[in-house]
Amino acid sequence: MKQFVRKAKIIGTGSYVPEKIYTNKYLETLVDTNDEWIQKNLGIKERRIASDKEATSDLAWRAGYNAILDAGLTKDDIDLIIIATATPDRLAPSTAAIVQDKLQAYNSVAFDIAAVCSGFLYGMSVASQFIASGVYDNVLVIGADTFSRITDWKRRDCVFFGDGAGATVLSSANVNEGFIAFRLYTDGRGKWNYTVPAGGSEMPCTQETVNNRLHYFQMDGRAVYETGTKVLPKAIFQVLSDTGLKIEDIDLMIPHQPSIAILKETARIINLPFEKVMTNMEKYANTSGGTIPLILDEVKKAGKIKSGSNILFAAVGSGWTYGAAIIKWSMCK
Ligand SMILES: CC(C)(COP(=O)(O)OP(=O)(O)OC[C@H]1O[C@@H](n2cnc3c(N)ncnc32)[C@H](O)[C@@H]1OP(=O)(O)O)[C@@H](O)C(=O)NCCC(=O)NCCS
Repeated sequence: MKQFVRKAKIIGTGSYVPEKIYTNKYLETLVDTNDEWIQKNLGIKERRIASDKEATSDLAWRAGYNAILDAGLTKDDIDLIIIATATPDRLAPSTAAIVQDKLQAYNSVAFDIAAVCSGFLYGMSVASQFIASGVYDNVLVIGADTFSRITDWKRRDCVFFGDGAGATVLSSANVNEGFIAFRLYTDGRGKWNYTVPAGGSEMPCTQETVNNRLHYFQMDGRAVYETGTKVLPKAIFQVLSDTGLKIEDIDLMIPHQPSIAILKETARIINLPFEKVMTNMEKYANTSGGTIPLILDEVKKAGKIKSGSNILFAAVGSGWTYGAAIIKWSMCK
């Protein structure tokens, strides 16, 4: 097991979702899909949609604010803000700079991380390194996305995603608590299996790209399923091996929320009873960077996490990016 110089733990959580709801029934009026198929295969009933006035930073700062309050800190205590997002407000500046200003957390350095659905896991890992090195004490990590803005509502893969944000505050931990393992992976050979072709430097937006609907995401669903069900178990087995824990030692799994089918198959492969796998895609669908902190906040507020619980995080996303982490939870701030 690797020794951390100074360990990190989560001392506060928060979340925020927009009010507007698109139900599966509503999507039936837009595209050739049906509620029964979506619920059975994806586990989704409805998803939240940002209003015209809400950008990713609006969801993010609210989730971040709630996490700072939950941690018992103030905005001035935050040394670093990391935003995991694939739907930034603008190409420049970073969404983190906008969120820093909205929070008026001017003592902090702020930057974005781009790892799509694995972004929050990457963000917590980076935060932990800054805490381990002693450079920063309190790090706000926010996962926030508004995939409704890159969804083609005329295509039936519009059923997968929703908008939402979650946040955690990480701080230093004693030796018996906090993160005990992180494993992150990237495999760029999968880079086009989930992509937004237009709007970057390779293909700037033009009238033609808009006419061809290239500013919306494109996803190879089968590749996502096949990759997800291979790489999630791989990352999870690795963090179990790193820590010497057995799957029976895991009290709760808080995964990214790609689809109920991917999570059930992953649980079967790693031999974890599905009751231990937390899901909320029923209400929010896949909020990409937002999924893990959003569900963590819900599960914590529902009293399902106890001091000493071993919690397993895992995510897979575009890139491919994937990874897993284990934290020994502590109630002490
Ligand atoms: C998308 C996914 C369900 C498609 O299944 P598939 O077997 O790979 O591909 P197919 O296109 O053959 O679809 C299978 C069936 O589902 C149906 N289907 C696919 N998308 C549908 C939709 N949005 N609504 C209703 N039915 C749908 C197809 O019509 C087909 O039905 P049939 O068997 O009666 O012909 C599956 O690949 C998947 O779950 N992938 C994971 C994607 C994911 O989790 N993405 C989010 C993380 S980035």
